[in-house]
Amino acid sequence: MQEAEIVMLEESFREVAAVRDDAAELFYERLFVNDPSLRVMFASADMKDQGRKLMAALSFVVTSLRRLDTVVPALQTLAVKHVGYGVRDEHYATVGKALIETLSLFFAHRFTLEHRRVWTMAYGTVADVMMAAAAAHSEPVRQASAS
Ligand code: HEM
Repeated sequence: MQEAEIVMLEESFREVAAVRDDAAELFYERLFVNDPSLRVMFASADMKDQGRKLMAALSFVVTSLRRLDTVVPALQTLAVKHVGYGVRDEHYATVGKALIETLSLFFAHRFTLEHRRVWTMAYGTVADVMMAAAAAHSEPVRQASAS
């Protein structure tokens, strides 16, 4: 990522982090509007606590953008946990859509096309790492059941 793109992500995330509980609440509201069937996945979760975990994970990624390779192992571990929650590849697009909608509602006219492009790219990078790790984790199981 270009330095200017990283700075844009850091600055916009700093504003979101200042109201992280409200931002997380808005995010899950968008997520469940976009796909109500996902609610059951979070049935046992304390959503306030879940929101804080999600915002902490996003903060971890945003503060590591200049050395993204250092967060890959943690994202891979998180991805394997998500396989256990029943998360599938298509869910990553739904979460990405809810994230962009949340930022767009939060920043309103200040959420420029450039913000949308940079956040979409950053989320895509994280989701790609997680989906690849989930696939690698599930591959032996898939092959065993195919044989
Ligand atoms: C792409 C970026 C994502 C990040 C950074 C992320 C982050 C997290 C974190 C940090 C946790 C807490 C894990 C723990 O307790 O140790 C979590 C839990 C969870 N995530 Fe994600 N997640 C992502 C994508 C998704 C997707 C695509 C779904 C599917 C809808 C999803 C569904 C869940 C569920 C169901 C839980 C467990 C809730 C519970 O505690 O019962 N996540 N996520």
